Amino acid sequence: MTTTTTTGPVLVDPARLEGLATSILEDLGFGPQDARIGARAMVRADLRGAHTHGIRYLPEYVPLIRGGAIRADSKPEIVRASNSAALIDGDAGLGHVVAYHAAEQAITMAAEPGSGVGFVLVRNSNHFGAAGFFSLQIAEAGLVGLVLSNSAPVMAAPGARGPVISNSPISYGFPSNDGYGHIVLDMALSDVAGSRVLMAADRGEPIPLGWLLDAEGQPTTDPEQIRQGGALTSIGGHKGWALALFVEILSGVLSGAAVTHDVLKFRERPTEPSGTGHTVLAVNPEVFMGRDEFEERLARFRRTVHEAPKAAGSDRVLLPGELEHEHELDALSNGLALDETTWTELAQLAGELGRTADLHDVRR
Ligand SMILES: NC(=O)c1ccc[n+]([C@@H]2O[C@H](COP(=O)([O-])OP(=O)(O)OC[C@H]3O[C@@H](n4cnc5c(N)ncnc54)[C@H](O)[C@@H]3O)[C@@H](O)[C@H]2O)c1
Repeated sequence: MTTTTTTGPVLVDPARLEGLATSILEDLGFGPQDARIGARAMVRADLRGAHTHGIRYLPEYVPLIRGGAIRADSKPEIVRASNSAALIDGDAGLGHVVAYHAAEQAITMAAEPGSGVGFVLVRNSNHFGAAGFFSLQIAEAGLVGLVLSNSAPVMAAPGARGPVISNSPISYGFPSNDGYGHIVLDMALSDVAGSRVLMAADRGEPIPLGWLLDAEGQPTTDPEQIRQGGALTSIGGHKGWALALFVEILSGVLSGAAVTHDVLKFRERPTEPSGTGHTVLAVNPEVFMGRDEFEERLARFRRTVHEAPKAAGSDRVLLPGELEHEHELDALSNGLALDETTWTELAQLAGELGRTADLHDVRR
């Protein structure tokens, strides 16, 4: 008989994991459609190798859902709009669900005859996990996507001490049909995502110098400093800082969402919505040229990049999204490996909700 305790990674069936996560979200009060969207977004992050922002978050959202910070019955709505731009109030919903609906709205507007662009800002949302899920959603609709989000400050600014700004996830997607998957960048503007530092802290392992500054603004290898006033470093120093301002001004200032320290820190107050803001842009390439011509030019561009002379010790040059596409294909065929901590926390949650038998079915 399978048990819920484990001493290493656990291989699971992704579709059954998604089914379990959907049921759990329904148990917590989500309607069937929103539960499916939330579960899909979390599991797809794992499928694409973004384990820091995958299903491991589900148990962490539970106190926020029960406390009211994340509203299971939220009804995001458009509060202002033109033909090609809209502002959505997320009604404190789960960020994944709110951003999914925002991306659908951007896709609809970009597909309108005479438009070609859908630009959506979102306020009053919550943490949305991996930004790439939504630019992939837009690329899968055949459109070019850009997705940004603010969150509570965790990143340093040149010359400042302590966190000043969100590490600002940024994702773009270009639809591509040449067999390598859509071109999708999905990253934060900190040298590493805060979750990686927190995971190292939970394992009691040091981090490489250059990921984190302590409360005095000095580089440190101690991941615990992130909980003691430390701040993540921005990619490329002042360049990452300047790009984070771009993300914050659109997603926070222009959207009317909470800005910098007014965005509530994830997990800190389970009864209060975080005030998070998102930016979603969808562009129809057919405004500029025929779809076939665009796809052919993009495939040729990719071939040129792939054929670049290789550095010593390297056998390939990659575009963003290729590793994730390979990871997803592999996990769909051979199963998805979840780390022990994620599995144990999921097992505790499933047990608490009377779904231990369903959890057993998830293992391969
Ligand atoms: N919701 C939030 O508030 C929040 C905050 C921070 C991070 N995140 C999420 O955390 C996740 C991880 O972010 P990260 O900064 O650690 O990502 P990362 O540093 O692992 O970078 C991943 C990106 O780099 C690309 N990439 C990797 N190697 C490449 C290569 N050799 N050539 C070309 N491209 C390459 C990948 O395709 C991917 O798009 C993301 O999903 C992000 O959205 C979310």
